[in-house]
Amino acid sequence: MAGERRRSVALAITGASGAMYATRTLAALLSRGVHVELVISDYGRRLLRDELGEEAAVEQLMPYLSGRYGDEVGRGSIALHSNRDLGATIASGSHGCSGMAIVPCSMKTLAGVAHGLSRSLVERAADVMLKERRRLVIVPRETPMSLPQLRNMVLCAEAGAMMLPAMPAFYQLPKTLDDLADFMAGKILGALGFEHDLYPPWSGRVGA
Ligand SMILES: Cc1cc2nc3c(=O)[nH]c(=O)nc-3n(C[C@H](O)[C@H](O)[C@H](O)COP(=O)(O)O)c2cc1C
Repeated sequence: MAGERRRSVALAITGASGAMYATRTLAALLSRGVHVELVISDYGRRLLRDELGEEAAVEQLMPYLSGRYGDEVGRGSIALHSNRDLGATIASGSHGCSGMAIVPCSMKTLAGVAHGLSRSLVERAADVMLKERRRLVIVPRETPMSLPQLRNMVLCAEAGAMMLPAMPAFYQLPKTLDDLADFMAGKILGALGFEHDLYPPWSGRVGA
């Protein structure tokens, strides 16, 4: 835990459905004392408000998270960057960010990462993770998927990213939307190298 406390992770929120996956992941990281370099695209900002309400607007994110997930989120810290600021810390490989997750990841941002376009801070920071061989976790959300979208996922996987689609499982017998969000956030934390108890490990039997 003491090691985790010093860790710094980048989290990008883009304009795909599933804003709750992002807020749950952010809250779980903060509760572990992680420093989060946060960047949210214009449509990511819109999705936060559209899906979670005005109280989840970017300007009020910390009070929203502590109200929703508890005061432990105060153990971590956030540096919020503009998606237009290509001079932000996480645009450089010299910054000590240990990994990055894009939650959720739109097909547009997926395409940008797959082709190394670096048009925005989200795309540039992802590009940095790939070139530095650090963990990049991409959580795409779209259905059905076109051939270019499928190919873009393969390109990202070939470049070293972990493709972690927003596909919550049902063998944990979820009862609420929060259970589904916990499952996805747990998968993302695990992929970033964090221990978590967001869902119980598979016991060999459904419901056991
Ligand atoms: C309400 C809403 C839901 C959307 N859901 C998705 C989605 O699930 N997946 C996706 O790829 N794009 C989705 N989009 C479209 C993206 O937001 C759009 O392509 C945008 O340009 C993405 O930009 P960004 O990657 O910079 O956030 C949605 C848009 C809106 C307004």
